[in-house]
Amino acid sequence: TRVPLPYTPRVLELFREPKNLGRIDDADAFAQAGSPACGDVISIYLRIRDGVIEDAKFESYGCAANIAAASVLTEIVKGKRLEEAWNIDWQQIADELGGLPPVKKHCSILAVGALRRAIRRYFGDNLPEWLPKDLTS
Ligand code: FES
Ligand code: FES
Repeated sequence: TRVPLPYTPRVLELFREPKNLGRIDDADAFAQAGSPACGDVISIYLRIRDGVIEDAKFESYGCAANIAAASVLTEIVKGKRLEEAWNIDWQQIADELGGLPPVKKHCSILAVGALRRAIRRYFGDNLPEWLPKDLTS
């Protein structure tokens, strides 16, 4: 039998009632990212006006930690400028969740990676100077 992972109450709550789950039709930015660690996939959709994220949604084929991380991330980025959103890191998201089990760090990294990919794709070849050119996430 498998021992249940020690998820925090916040993770379990967001797993049961995710925030911003779904897609944005005509999104200004979209990206999908997959985790090499587990094979899970997440999509991020952004509505952007004047460099500010007005709305953010996600679809996840990942685990509870990923769904909870994406919920928190999409909540946090709303109203933020793209540069601020870019600088959110996975640890910040894990902290918002009250912590993640070590084997579940990649679930937060996956959510942040998808957001960054969406932001980078939004700019295409016209990357602003705060955006690293050679990025692997
Ligand atoms: Fe894929 Fe968590 S390992 S759902
Ligand atoms: Fe894969 Fe959580 S185990 S995203």
